[in-house]
Amino acid sequence: MEEKVKKVIGDIEQHAVTTAEEAEQFRLKFLSKKGIIPALFEEFKSVDAEQRRKLGKILNELKTAAEAKFTAWNTQAPLQAGKQEGKGVSGPDLTLPPYPFELGSRHPVSIVKRRITEIFEKIGYTVSEGPDIEDDWHNFGALNFPADHPARDMQDTFFISPPGNPHPAHLLRTHTSSVQVRVMEGQKPPIRTISPGRVYRNETISARAHCQFHQVEGLYIDKGVSFADLKQTLYYFVHELFGKKTGIRFRPSYFPFTEPSAEMDISCIICGGDGCNICKHSGWVEILGCGMVHPNVLDNCKIDSLLYTGFAFGTGVERIAMMLYGIKDLRLFYENDIRFLSQFRPAL
Ligand code: PHE
Repeated sequence: MEEKVKKVIGDIEQHAVTTAEEAEQFRLKFLSKKGIIPALFEEFKSVDAEQRRKLGKILNELKTAAEAKFTAWNTQAPLQAGKQEGKGVSGPDLTLPPYPFELGSRHPVSIVKRRITEIFEKIGYTVSEGPDIEDDWHNFGALNFPADHPARDMQDTFFISPPGNPHPAHLLRTHTSSVQVRVMEGQKPPIRTISPGRVYRNETISARAHCQFHQVEGLYIDKGVSFADLKQTLYYFVHELFGKKTGIRFRPSYFPFTEPSAEMDISCIICGGDGCNICKHSGWVEILGCGMVHPNVLDNCKIDSLLYTGFAFGTGVERIAMMLYGIKDLRLFYENDIRFLSQFRPAL
């Protein structure tokens, strides 16, 4: 009898099914009242006492294994589906709903971009957009970058040449100041607008630099706009975004399209100004460039620079998101790693 049991064990081990019908046939053959396993138990009753202990154990194992196999098939999704439709299926059922249901989340860049936009909308700024692929005039020329001026090297540019023509006609915008040129060309002052968008620079990718990132740039043009207006607007912006206790300082700087120009630092919100890796132990982090719009820029856009003045500023969205969320590596924003992205579920 031992031989017989071993053969059944082998049969069961090798048995495979693809449909619910075949699984049922398996049950009938091995497990049902008139099946092979109950018959073996019947036969077992007449086995002599010596063999009983050994055989009893194997028989019980055989029964458990057969039952487990049948239960496993029966709970398998494809077999289940086949059962419902009354026909066999040979592969996973792609129409089944996924479980658990995962809610999507907003990208941190979108969250911060929206937050910045809301802050400026509250004080009357409109939102303007423009093309990612720009011409030299809108990205450089109109912004007072003379041809061959070394200031063009401040922003490493991706140029785009038409096939067969070595001279680049277009480029990927290096800043959204290009959008502001388009606004100034198309609208009359007073102008109060921000331009959020993606920009591109030919930089080596690292934890602190990337070949693409996002900016929000702002522009305000009217009669009698002064540097004091610029400072007040930026004080308001920083206090709304980072809190009223955040320290602010301006340092003189240079941009071809603004005169005078400045860079703005805020006290490091990670360490509160005590010094940490993020602020390179200075207690301050640069977040923005700004200045009074250069008269040449106004004239280039057919706005009378004797009548109007204005200010402009530009800030990097990822830089701000890194501060707000304590993110240490810029590359994380572009890797689409769900473990990173799913942490931003609740809106800011
Ligand atoms: N366009 C500048 C940049 O991308 C930022 C800036 C905007 C500076 C407006 C001054 C005024 O670096």
